[in-house]
Amino acid sequence: MVHFSKVAVVAAALAGSAIAHPGEHHDLDDIKQQVKARDQMASVAKRSLNNCPSSLKHRELTARAVARRSTIAKDLREKRGIQTKAKKFRRDLATLEAYEAVNHNMTGVYHYTPATPEATIFSANTSCILSPEVTDGPYYILGELVRKNVTEGQPGIPLYLEAQYIDITTCLPVPELYVDIWNCNATGYYSGVVANGNEVGWDSTFLRGVQPTDEEGVASFETIFPGHYEGRAIHTHLLVHDNVTVMDNGTFQGGAVTHIGQLFWNEELRSAAEAVYPYTTNTQAITSNAEDMWSIVQAENDFDPFPEYMYLGDSIEDGLLAWIQIGVNVTADYTDDDYYSVAATLQADGGHENTESPFTRGGDMGNGTAPGNGTAPPS
Ligand SMILES: *[C@@H]1O[C@H](CO)[C@@H](O)[C@H](O)[C@H]1NC(C)=O
Ligand SMILES: *[C@@H]1O[C@H](CO)[C@@H](O)[C@H](O)[C@H]1NC(C)=O
Ligand SMILES: *[C@@H]1O[C@H](CO)[C@@H](O)[C@H](O)[C@H]1NC(C)=O
Ligand SMILES: *[C@@H]1O[C@H](CO)[C@@H](O)[C@H](O)[C@H]1NC(C)=O
Ligand SMILES: *[C@@H]1O[C@H](CO)[C@@H](O)[C@H](O)[C@H]1NC(C)=O
Ligand SMILES: *[C@@H]1O[C@H](CO)[C@@H](O)[C@H](O)[C@H]1NC(C)=O
Ligand SMILES: *[C@@H]1O[C@H](CO)[C@@H](O)[C@H](O)[C@H]1NC(C)=O
Ligand SMILES: *[C@@H]1O[C@H](CO)[C@@H](O)[C@H](O)[C@H]1NC(C)=O
Ligand SMILES: *[C@@H]1O[C@H](CO)[C@@H](O)[C@H](O)[C@H]1NC(C)=O
Repeated sequence: MVHFSKVAVVAAALAGSAIAHPGEHHDLDDIKQQVKARDQMASVAKRSLNNCPSSLKHRELTARAVARRSTIAKDLREKRGIQTKAKKFRRDLATLEAYEAVNHNMTGVYHYTPATPEATIFSANTSCILSPEVTDGPYYILGELVRKNVTEGQPGIPLYLEAQYIDITTCLPVPELYVDIWNCNATGYYSGVVANGNEVGWDSTFLRGVQPTDEEGVASFETIFPGHYEGRAIHTHLLVHDNVTVMDNGTFQGGAVTHIGQLFWNEELRSAAEAVYPYTTNTQAITSNAEDMWSIVQAENDFDPFPEYMYLGDSIEDGLLAWIQIGVNVTADYTDDDYYSVAATLQADGGHENTESPFTRGGDMGNGTAPGNGTAPPS
């Protein structure tokens, strides 16, 4: 839901919200406890979602989603003049469960042929619960521009990402959510922040933007496949606001934080992407999914943060289409959650540092495998 207003709302968004990050004052036991709580929450949401496939409306939604993704794939291929066959990789449920519970063995990645029915290729189970208990990290910027194409000329593998938000109680899509996306560039740098090892500048906005969900609960972005940086597995942030006020300049203010999540990308895809220039010029150390402290190491079957994806052409350089369905609890508000932290706010005259955030200038970024030092790793 969204409110439109001609009246400028005072930028009070920061004032009331918790800017603390768990690493700031929590220890490893705390983190473990929170991971447990996260899994429990995912479990509850999953049970709720399990009822969805039996609903006619949900089956209709799934059919529409399949048709839409198929059309998007065709359109993107045409637009990019790709003639060669598309490749689709996916995981079957058994493999997913096996490697989510144990490790991230990608042996069960399948290659689909053009004869494979569309529904097999383009469906996605609404089992993808990005837990709200996953931190938004130290690099979230409030007030980003509402725009679909966030690349700003950053070189890298084009990634067309479709996130569909489903109400876990009604199994229906949730329109008018405002979804923030952000990730680092091909060599591991975030725009919009000045932090140890990431002195990029407060005024930059590359690879950040906001899209509202449509009637189908879908927000889609044109971005690039993220690179990696020391201490974290490759990931993409998605943060959802509800009940916002849209300003004249297209940005939004206020509202509730309905969902905080991170998408992870499987190791096979990461290696394929990072074999391509300019990812190859990245000299930072790699952290695998299994090593990542925020990741799915602890993930149970209820928690699937990997999007489905396909190569648009023969080569990964032709670009990727990726999609995920995310269950959200529309009555929840994580504004005061420990894991909601804001590094800066973008305003008409540029980015303004949130000086209370411990993760920006001078902040210790840790190494990502343990919060040991009383600080959390960058996210
Ligand atoms: C990965 O899975 C395959 C079969 O699915 C198995 O043969 C192989 O040993 C596994 N490797 C690891 C490292 O788990
Ligand atoms: C969805 O789950 C069912 C089993 O619950 C499985 O057979 C099917 O392959 C899954 N579909 C996708 C796209 O993962
Ligand atoms: C997105 O914007 C960039 C410029 O930043 C442009 O080069 C690219 O073609 C755009 N992508 C699409 C799919 O239009
Ligand atoms: C990523 O961003 C940093 C900081 O702006 C820049 O120095 C670097 O060249 C960018 N990476 C690529 C591959 O363009
Ligand atoms: C958003 O607004 C609707 C209608 O006013 C309300 O029912 C809902 O609880 C609000 N959501 C949150 C998370 O506050
Ligand atoms: C949804 O959020 C509300 C408000 O925080 C909470 O009371 C409820 O238990 C949540 N529902 C589920 C299924 O997690
Ligand atoms: C958009 O407008 C609001 C309200 O006037 C203002 O606070 C904000 O700084 C503006 N943002 C940008 C990026 O121009
Ligand atoms: C803890 O943080 C301080 C200040 O950033 C740093 O100098 C020190 O090396 C860190 N210690 C460990 C064990 O990471
Ligand atoms: C990360 O830091 C922790 C504690 O500060 C340390 O035990 C661990 O060895 C470090 N890992 C790496 C890869 O540096």
